[in-house]
Amino acid sequence: MTRYEKVATVLRERIERGIYRVDDRLPSIRAVCKEMEVSISTAQEAYRQLMDAALIESRPKSGYFVLPSRVPTVLPSVSRPAQRPLDISQWDQVLELIATQRDDSRLLLGRGVPNLDYETLKPLSKILAGLHRSSDFNGFNYDKLNGSPELRQQVAKLAVASNCLLHPDDILITTGCQEALAISLRTLTQPGDVVAVDSPSFYGTMQILKANGLKALEIPTDPQTGISLEALELALEQWPIRAIQVTPTFNNPLGYTMPEARKRALFQLAQRFDVAIIEDDIYGDLAFTQPRPCTIKSFDDDGRVLLCSGFSKTVGPGLRVGWLAPGRYRDQALHMKYVSTGASATLPQLAVAEFVAKGYYERHLRYANRQYQRQRDIMISWVQRYFPEGSGISYPQGSFLLWVELPAAVDCVRLNERLAQKKLHVAPGSLFSASGKFRQCLRLNYAFTLTPAMEDAVRSVGELAMKMVEEANQHAAY
Ligand SMILES: Cc1ncc(COP(=O)(O)O)c(C=O)c1O
Repeated sequence: MTRYEKVATVLRERIERGIYRVDDRLPSIRAVCKEMEVSISTAQEAYRQLMDAALIESRPKSGYFVLPSRVPTVLPSVSRPAQRPLDISQWDQVLELIATQRDDSRLLLGRGVPNLDYETLKPLSKILAGLHRSSDFNGFNYDKLNGSPELRQQVAKLAVASNCLLHPDDILITTGCQEALAISLRTLTQPGDVVAVDSPSFYGTMQILKANGLKALEIPTDPQTGISLEALELALEQWPIRAIQVTPTFNNPLGYTMPEARKRALFQLAQRFDVAIIEDDIYGDLAFTQPRPCTIKSFDDDGRVLLCSGFSKTVGPGLRVGWLAPGRYRDQALHMKYVSTGASATLPQLAVAEFVAKGYYERHLRYANRQYQRQRDIMISWVQRYFPEGSGISYPQGSFLLWVELPAAVDCVRLNERLAQKKLHVAPGSLFSASGKFRQCLRLNYAFTLTPAMEDAVRSVGELAMKMVEEANQHAAY
């Protein structure tokens, strides 16, 4: 951490603990220099960081003052999906989103990609180059079907942070987390089966359900505590559910993390109804505070949890390095891995293993998570400033995705069509539902470096949304 970041962190903590309250004047720059033994420029930079995060403001000739909390007071509502298993639609929209992913002519405000420009990622390029040069380079050969031993060893070590005790042989390296999810679903289900999912839910998983002829039973989900256990219990009594699929930590898109007690209760519910859980933990290492939250897998004493994760959101999605801890389903999962892609590419596995083993991964996470936390606050302050009043905003404690629920008059699929003229794009909420619900919601990414151009872009989205509200009001008046 740089000196100014340390100073900013101390001051931020004092604000969060209420030592400095709203409208309080903060110590002068000189006082900070004296107290923390730093230079004037360091103290100024720390204050600039706090202003960027919309925690304080500078008032001419008066000093720095604490601003009202930016914690959203209006959260998105608890989802109320259809109470029956559904076939999945939305492939066209997913295809459109995928097509835009490499479209440099538009600013993609809703994409699910981390910041790939941080200096802390640079050692990875060196590692890749070094692997090519080493005399025992074996990267052009097939790797083991379950993945490189070096990488599985590192993944097992990392899993300790989420309270999970895994042996390297419990782990299967996959081509991205998407393959881990696909293998899990194919391992557990037959066409026509029903899978319970949180709602909204990651569209990639929905499309795996669709491709395998499965039905999604969407369960009401709270923006703070996650999938409703009460509704899930009723669903388990009523429907022949083959698996429960959830993303309980820094959920994409809703942002919540299930409290530990609810994760344990979900596991016990699955045990009672003898159902498997597919846990997606791809964002789990992106925690703003340590220790990171535990996984449901950490309670798994009978092997019913298939834990899916990977390095796409922490290191880079282009590496396509994911992993699966399939519990008691290891043999079937290995078979599905073989028929899916065979062994995963060797070189990225070796590179990621070295990146983790040499401590670069942890260093990168520390840096990226600090940036994402700060940028979450900035993005929230922009949404509060520019979006229609009463918009619900999520408050994630990790990762880099924000979920916004706009007034019902705003259809985000239509909003996106109009944004195309301004070379902007958001991820419309309907992508995250089996049946196209959440049309008034959208997902924003705050991993980007938040420049004034980004603020203008967010303002444009907000202005257009307000225009749509006004148009709807006028229409209703006629
Ligand atoms: C919740 C979730 N799971 C899985 C994936 C897919 O990850 P990968 O790119 O490693 O296949 C994503 C990517 O957006 C995601 O958001």
